[in-house]
Amino acid sequence: MSAIAPAPTSHAMSAADGRDASAWTVADLERDTGWIRPLDDADRADLMAGLRAGSVPGKPLLEYRREDFPFGARVIGRLRDAVDDAQHGRGVALVKGLPREGLTPAQFELLTWAIGLHLGVARPQDRMSNYINPVKDVGAVYRSPTGRGYSSKSELDFHVDGGDVVLLSCYNQAPVGGDSLCSSGVTAWRTLVAERPDLARVLEQPVPHSRQGEQPEGIDPWFLMPIFARTAADVCCTWNRNRITNGFRFDDAPACSELQLEAMALLDEILRRPQVMFRMRLEPGDVQILSDFTTLHSRTAFEDHADEASKRTLYRLWLSTPNGIPLPAGLAPFWGATEPGVVRGGTPGQHHDDARRAFVARQAETLGMRVAPGTN
Ligand SMILES: [Fe+2]
Repeated sequence: MSAIAPAPTSHAMSAADGRDASAWTVADLERDTGWIRPLDDADRADLMAGLRAGSVPGKPLLEYRREDFPFGARVIGRLRDAVDDAQHGRGVALVKGLPREGLTPAQFELLTWAIGLHLGVARPQDRMSNYINPVKDVGAVYRSPTGRGYSSKSELDFHVDGGDVVLLSCYNQAPVGGDSLCSSGVTAWRTLVAERPDLARVLEQPVPHSRQGEQPEGIDPWFLMPIFARTAADVCCTWNRNRITNGFRFDDAPACSELQLEAMALLDEILRRPQVMFRMRLEPGDVQILSDFTTLHSRTAFEDHADEASKRTLYRLWLSTPNGIPLPAGLAPFWGATEPGVVRGGTPGQHHDDARRAFVARQAETLGMRVAPGTN
């Protein structure tokens, strides 16, 4: 096993350069708010003009191409800078002020999708092989072998999703609760190493991750992957309590040791410490962008509006980007390709068809990315 990384640096040092910016604390995000990126009226006008130019009522999202939405270099540059901050800087960005007023949910979803076409290759997210999902309470039970938090109104555990970055655009917010929480996995790692290096090592061991029953035929229902894996720059975190707890339940999976339980409990405790856990409340028109390698996210439980049209609604995109970070080999069981520039991540689901494969191939070509054999 390789040597444990040095103990956490001070806050002042932690944000000193791009490499260390991902090890932020709440104080860092409050002191330097450069991660919050407001759009202006000209950006909104460019987005609306591009949306109007490309929108064709009834056209399936997978048939749109990047060129259908000529948003202009200015606003796309701003959005790309936010994605790059999430990937290569702090791990978190918040774009504020997408056009929202007067748009239907379907138009706002299309706007989110169209922005994604400029930034990466969308990845499938669920059993239905959906490439974009509404995050909305439809009565799902989060704590079940096939449960997914985005369809429930429950408080969620800290976890990562399945793209180089995850984009979450807000159409409606709940009247009570539904706050977004995020914590730096890099900060959590450094804290673990400082406080309990023995447990930090435990979290570098591969553990079973459940596919939550969403896998296509012929694919195992669980796979082994470490919770923390070293990178050249620092560390990647794959923590997802729900998936790992369910992974350990498979008869043919390794048993969970007392040390592993203790290590996972400490990790969750660190992630919720007041100096580590940042709380934000997404407003309609906001887009939260997070790295799925360095930033963990969660949200609080919520009470929803009574009328359907006002209910909490966000749209989630998982993007494989042309300029992602190189991944450690230990992450290949979920991500597929570990090198940047190759389409990776996502969960293929059970409805992956020719239309979806054609979308991935076309979008990868548009962005100059490679599709490895066997990629969905
Ligand atoms: Fe998530």
